Amino acid sequence: MKVAVFSTKSYDRTFLEAANTQSKHELVFFEPRLTCETSVLATGSQAVCAFVNDELNAQTLTKLANLGIKLIALRSAGFNNVDLIKAEELELTVVRVPAYSPYAVAEHTIGLILALNRRIPRAYNRVREGNFSLEGLLGFDLNGKTAGIVGTGRIGTITAQILQGFGCNVLAYDNTPPDNQNLEYVSFPQLLAAADIVSLHCPLTPETHHLINAQTVAQMKTGAMLINTSRGALIDTKAVVTGLKSGKIGYLGLDVYEKEGNLFFEDLSSAVIQDDLFERLLTFPNVLITGHQSFFTIEAVKSIAETTLSNISDFEQGNCSNQVKPSQHH
Ligand code: NAI
Repeated sequence: MKVAVFSTKSYDRTFLEAANTQSKHELVFFEPRLTCETSVLATGSQAVCAFVNDELNAQTLTKLANLGIKLIALRSAGFNNVDLIKAEELELTVVRVPAYSPYAVAEHTIGLILALNRRIPRAYNRVREGNFSLEGLLGFDLNGKTAGIVGTGRIGTITAQILQGFGCNVLAYDNTPPDNQNLEYVSFPQLLAAADIVSLHCPLTPETHHLINAQTVAQMKTGAMLINTSRGALIDTKAVVTGLKSGKIGYLGLDVYEKEGNLFFEDLSSAVIQDDLFERLLTFPNVLITGHQSFFTIEAVKSIAETTLSNISDFEQGNCSNQVKPSQHH
């Protein structure tokens, strides 16, 4: 099948081409993000392969359907960037990679927690400059602290297990808690009130949009750490900036950001960033941001490529494994 691959980076190409030696699809690689304007690049293809910041809104989907596209193959777990109702109406099949390496995201989450707590980026810069002072580097023991995991699916569960290994008391909140878990489930307000660290692992849905807002920040323990490696819009960034300024939020670790589509995955080091809210976040000494790299391990990227190509092969053979339907409404 001819597949137009959008938002291609060198690593996407490397891993997809390696996985394609089995599947033998005709992959056409495009660097631009998929938007209404760039959708024309898919002319002549039967499928498009898209990533997290590609815009699969009603307008783009309509254009793709008119070009004869039948399949949208997401190389991500999240599918909040797709108008699933429109896709169904246009008879476009949407598939995704539901699970690749949940360890990749969980381990990066822990990386953010440790780096923020022990001020590792700050210490790294100091030592390189010959400044060996410890002023401002004081951390806390994770052992004995309470961590609140919001969303205990694949990634949240592993994050919880690792934190339990550190000796944390883990509390969990999930709107549909899975069975057979060794976790203590509490209500969301109870979790916010008790947690020294709050880590978000639920999908972005209409229900979870701005889950962290002025009201819920107010319910958090003063000085708590907030971590988001899921989707940017789980957090109302303005409310969190206010929380950081007042000291209500003691630490913020982000791998995702509400308006990351205009920033992440590109080298903008010579550009003037226009997003003032993002720039404000960067000014806080207790904020650590990575650019949506939680998934970025060899194991995860390899698995994403393999599942994406087998999803395309399955579709060609009339099976729709890993299909996403509007009822899932993530
Ligand atoms: P999953 O589907 O296994 O688990 C999600 C959990 O969230 C489920 O247990 C579900 O019941 C729960 N949930 C749904 N709505 C909720 C609500 N309103 N309140 C509380 N809990 C709710 O998903 P998985 O694989 O653990 O991934 C979680 C999220 O992580 C994805 O949706 C995606 O947005 C994000 N992600 C981020 C990556 C990155 O590179 N930063 C990479 C992969 C995923």
